Amino acid sequence: MIDDIRARKIINSRAKWAIEIELKRKGKWFRASVPAGKSRGKNEAVQISAEQSMKKFIEFKSIIKHHEFQNQEELDNFLIESGGKNKEKFGVDLILATSIAYFQSEQQKAISLPTPMLNIINGGMHAGNDLSIQEFMIVPLKAEKFSDKIQIALDVYDALKKILEKKYGSSAINVGDEGGFAPPLKTTEEALMLIEKAIEEVGRKGEVSIALDCAASSYFNEGEYSIDSWKLSIEDYIDYISEISKKFNLFSIEDPLHEENFNGFSQLLRKTKSLIVGDDITVTNLELIEQAHKLKSINALLVKPNQIGTITETLNAINFCRKAGWSWIISHRSGETESSFIADFAAITESPFIKAGAPARSERTAKYNQLLRIEESLE
Ligand code: PGA
Ligand code: ZN
Repeated sequence: MIDDIRARKIINSRAKWAIEIELKRKGKWFRASVPAGKSRGKNEAVQISAEQSMKKFIEFKSIIKHHEFQNQEELDNFLIESGGKNKEKFGVDLILATSIAYFQSEQQKAISLPTPMLNIINGGMHAGNDLSIQEFMIVPLKAEKFSDKIQIALDVYDALKKILEKKYGSSAINVGDEGGFAPPLKTTEEALMLIEKAIEEVGRKGEVSIALDCAASSYFNEGEYSIDSWKLSIEDYIDYISEISKKFNLFSIEDPLHEENFNGFSQLLRKTKSLIVGDDITVTNLELIEQAHKLKSINALLVKPNQIGTITETLNAINFCRKAGWSWIISHRSGETESSFIADFAAITESPFIKAGAPARSERTAKYNQLLRIEESLE
């Protein structure tokens, strides 16, 4: 039984309103808030403004309050039925925040800790620099403990900061939306070389890999990829990406091609050893995930609860990965709140990876700090 529910507007990390829900069950209140993406996939669940959400909350509350649900699945199915498959009727924010608050009201057990993927150079739509690629991440794969992985990330972040400041001046250490540096670099390779240098300087070579999120839809236009001041045909671009994947031994490449090009993804996957991760192309949506599986477009999935809108559908996407033998990454969005829910969710679902931005800015560190607490509780 849902005893009561209330909604309010809170501020997110990009100075926009976000939705927060409080849900009362078994005499206790459970709180959940939801993030917002900037480089959104075309097929994501429908998001409406927080103002519109607050208006719609009156009707939403009237159908939810005092309603009885046996479990998460029953609630989520009800939310999908009354809110529409793409969550268009109430908008995804009210629906997901309610689904998360309910999940938190059930007894859940953290099982394992994910490896963090930390975004330390920001480009694309998340920064005001010339880098076409959106995210340059480090993945401390070799350390055993989560806290050791964070230590490595702090060391590399700090070394990179010093390198950037020395080479380009103090404005080069300004940060982008996800807390990574947003230096005035011109090319992908330059950014990758500086990260390699930072890793070497702190004696962490071999312990850390590099990963990219290209978010390539943002620089694809009329059959060409505009990257690093070149305009490349699809074929030349695939060659270029497979070359840098080899040169920098990239652990994974997310959205290397624009989101409609399932065959381009497959072509690249055959040419590289890096994991090919689907984000905008799959939007945590089982139908698109199945299509990507059939066409062998990807071998890892980015999992963003707010792309699809309920916990049950998110769990379905994760279970698909398990069955397919894929890896997956639980992910934040570029516009975040201080909620640490995705950290708990990654630990509860035994997810191998989490991507939550740089080890800087509190809306990012909230997630990593929660995992540090979970590590302690599991010891
Ligand atoms: P977004 O980007 O949250 O701005 O959509 C994150 C990503 O592309 O992974
Ligand atoms: Zn992405």
